[in-house]
Amino acid sequence: MTKENTYILAIESSCDDTSAAVLCNDTILSNVITSQKIHAEYGGVVPELASRAHQSNIVPVVDQALKQAGILRNQLHAIAFTRGPGLIGSLLVGTSFAKSLAYGLDIPLIEVNHMQGHILAHFIKEDGYTKPPFPFLAMTISGGHTQIVKVTNYFEMEVIGETIDDAVGEAYDKSGKILGLGYPAGPQIDKLAQTGNPKAFKFTKPKVDGLNFSFSGLKTGILYFVQRETKKNPDFVKENLESICASIQYTIIGILIDKLKHAVKRTGITHIAIGGGVSANSGIRQALKNGEKKFGWTTYIPKFEYTTDNAAMIAIVGYLKYLEKDFSDFDVMATARLKI
Ligand code: KG4
Ligand code: ZN
Repeated sequence: MTKENTYILAIESSCDDTSAAVLCNDTILSNVITSQKIHAEYGGVVPELASRAHQSNIVPVVDQALKQAGILRNQLHAIAFTRGPGLIGSLLVGTSFAKSLAYGLDIPLIEVNHMQGHILAHFIKEDGYTKPPFPFLAMTISGGHTQIVKVTNYFEMEVIGETIDDAVGEAYDKSGKILGLGYPAGPQIDKLAQTGNPKAFKFTKPKVDGLNFSFSGLKTGILYFVQRETKKNPDFVKENLESICASIQYTIIGILIDKLKHAVKRTGITHIAIGGGVSANSGIRQALKNGEKKFGWTTYIPKFEYTTDNAAMIAIVGYLKYLEKDFSDFDVMATARLKI
């Protein structure tokens, strides 16, 4: 007897990407992501513009996800959606859409915590990808988040460290703005850093107790440094761009690795999984590889499209909750500051 397949449609709309995915058990059939280009003009995400763009994107994105998966609406077993954390106007679009669709199709509605999505993305079935064993440490690094979470089981998670101000991606983007780079600046700094000297300039690392992070002081330090040097030489940034980028990257990676070392020491857990847009960074990837040799870590980095904001990661959480029959009531509300 063959077990019946479970098909789930998931919707992610927490920030500036509208995404819909269709999953069959733990395999992704489609993962459509529409990035909103409009924010680049403003150097960061404008919440009101984001929710309006979600409104116009959501129907075509869901249609395309179903089409690519070759699945009809009436074959779906449940609708999963991001309840939070995120921008409230953006979350409301996905939440309302998911509710209406689940109600219309008379199938269960499953709320998903976006941060759990980033972590459980490691459990999407992919050829050649080894899933992390429990317990493991998950570090989520992106434009909106910086967290270290101790993961004991699918839904047993404890945040053991997080940023008290800016997220790490924000540190990249704000530093890039100071240097005159476009938004998002993270990938550009990463690229320019390849040919610079990481030890050319020294930036002070923040002193934050325990496993928490702080990045806003670093940004201010970079601003004052650039203002001071530009006064002496107006072409300072132009002449030293690669080495400034390499030095910023070296400092940021140093902060992340120091905290990971501390987290490993505190928990005794050496399996480390990362997620979020900044996990595309070549410096952090190299530093994690070094950690495998130097400290005996085992590290896990999912496929790139599952690290940035995407609905596939929401779908896998939806599937795991579906197996537990952990469904939501239709009066569930989008929650901007939802905790793990
Ligand atoms: O996960 P994501 O797509 O969206 C959220 O913020 O949730 O992450 C975007 C962030 C931006 O801040 C971007 O500058 C940063 O990830 N980023 C990088 C790299 N690629 C993306 N930062 C450093 N190095 C990269 N290669
Ligand atoms: Zn995210």
